[in-house]
This record gives sequence, C-alpha cells and structure tokens, in this order.
Amino acid sequence: MIEKIHLVEKEFKEDIGKISQSKDLEELRIKYLSRKGLISVLIDEFKELPAAEKPKFGKAINQLKNEAQESFNEKKKYFESLSDNAEIKLDLSLPSRRRVIGTKHILSQTLDEMKEIFKGLGFSVHEGPELESDYYNFEALNFPDDHPARDMQDTFFINDKFLLRTHTSPVQIRLMEKQTPPIRAIMPGKVYRNEAISAKSYCLFHQVEGLYVDEDVTFAELRGTLISFVQQFFGKDIKYRFRASFFPFTEPSAELDIWWQPKGKDGRWMEILGCGMVDPNVLANVNIDPEKYVGYAFGMGVERIALRKYGISDIRTFFDNDKRFLIQF
Ligand code: PHE
Repeated sequence: MIEKIHLVEKEFKEDIGKISQSKDLEELRIKYLSRKGLISVLIDEFKELPAAEKPKFGKAINQLKNEAQESFNEKKKYFESLSDNAEIKLDLSLPSRRRVIGTKHILSQTLDEMKEIFKGLGFSVHEGPELESDYYNFEALNFPDDHPARDMQDTFFINDKFLLRTHTSPVQIRLMEKQTPPIRAIMPGKVYRNEAISAKSYCLFHQVEGLYVDEDVTFAELRGTLISFVQQFFGKDIKYRFRASFFPFTEPSAELDIWWQPKGKDGRWMEILGCGMVDPNVLANVNIDPEKYVGYAFGMGVERIALRKYGISDIRTFFDNDKRFLIQF
C-alpha cells in the first residue's frame, strides 16, 4: 500500500510540473482529485483495509491528498493571475489622455476684476437675495405705484408680493437698514428682466451696485470715482461721457456711456451704468436722516462692460456655455 501511495505521489509531482497551460490543469484534477481519480481510488482501497492496518497508511494518504489539493490550488491561482494581467494589454506607444482643465467663466473674471478695482477705491463687497419683495425692489426705492417698471412686461413676478429682482438696487436698502453711515460698498449679483431676448438683452444679467453714504458726499466724487473705475478697467484712453437721466431713487441722475468701435463697424456710444445722488426719500425710508447724510449710488451692467472689453457682439454667448467660446478667455 505504501508503495502505491508513493507512486501516485511521484506521478502527481511529475504531472503538475509539466503543466504550462491552465486548460491542462483540469485534466490533472480529473486524473487525481475527482471522485474517480487516483487519490480517491487509494482512499477507497484504504477503507477496505482491516482496522489494524489502517493507522499505518492513514497519515500518508491524508498528506498526499492535502498536498495534491494545495499544489493544484496554487497552480490554479497562478494561471488566474496571469490571465488578469493579460487583459490589461499595455500599449506604451499610445498618447496619454489629455486632461481638460476648466477656466473661470469670462463673467466671473470680469466681476473679479471689477471688485478688485472698487476694493482699491475703499469699497467693501456685499450681496443680497435674488428673490425679492416688491418693497425692496420698488417701494423702498421710491417707485410710485404706477411706475412703468412695475409693469408685468419687465418683471418676473412670483406672486403679488415677491419677484426676481430687476436690479441690484434693493441691496442698497438692505445694507442701509443694517448699517449706519458712513457706508461705502459695492453689491454684485444677478438680476432678471422679462425682456425679448436678442443680441443686446437677455432675461438674466449681472449688475454691480455701488453706494456711498456719508455727511458730505458730492456728485463730483461720484463722477471722479466712476471715471477712475473706467480708466482702470479699460485704460486711460477710454472715451466716455455722462448724460442726464432719470431714476426714481436718485436725484439728480445720470448715465455713463463709453465709446465702442467694434472691428469693421461704425463706432457708437454704449451705456454701461446709471447713477445719481440718493433721493432723500430713500434715505428716509431706511431711517437715515436726509438732513444730515447724503449719498451717491450707481448700478453698472457687467455683461456690457465685458462685451466692450473683449469685443464680443452678442450677449447670449455668455450664457450658451459653448466651450469653444469659453475656452478663449
Ligand atoms: N438700478 C438702476 C438700473 O438697473 C441703475 C442705478 C443704480 C441707477 C443706482 C442709479 C443708481 O438701471
């Protein structure tokens, strides 16, 4: 019996040593380890032995069985690891994958630049909600009840009381309610208007509101601040003009135009902001004494300023999110 065991052991070792392909492994398993395999046959024979003889061979058979099973498992694992690697199939001549890194949106870049200039002029930065009440967007800003800007045509109303702000001026009111003068701040943000969409106007755009309230603020300072801004932003040679205008919340009021000469087209004036001295009624609405304090305010259109700076002709390109456009800046 012991010779048989050693014989099977020897043969198994030879056979497994010869295996170089995983498919031959199955043959080996059938030959030795299956129900009718050589090792099972040995075990069957062992079972037939008289009880007295069993201890002599039991250990050797068990050892053979375990070792064979173990070698088989190891070999199987080895072939599996080989085939895993084979699937990766490295091709080192392939070009590497290009990683496309996003850029800051042109409007964010413009806003950042505007903020930096105003910070340099002593302004802090504040924000307010885009969903506003009629009170902040119109009433507190001295809009009479029948003012055309309250018309359904221009404003996205949510209900009787709430709307999407049509300008950033309501943030002036919020700021003056919270702070006592002197106040010197800009308030950037999105505004919404229910207008026909065209190359020049979109239902959504950005403004930067400005406010300065103190005891002795003058229109000359307002003018000086805005000229300083356009010169820092566009360069010293920028051609500009102030025009008298009207806003319910400023008196007197003006608009600032800058000269725009798109390539190959006729030049024209382009309005970029409205401004004026804060109307005393507005100060009274926020409990700031109009006898003691004066203020100036302005509101500028960020898209128009970016159009002019980068020579873009259609405001809608800012919102299309076409990567070919965005990546240029
Ligand atoms: N809110 C005005 C607009 O949207 C601009 C403005 C702001 C005018 C502040 C005067 C003072 O047109």
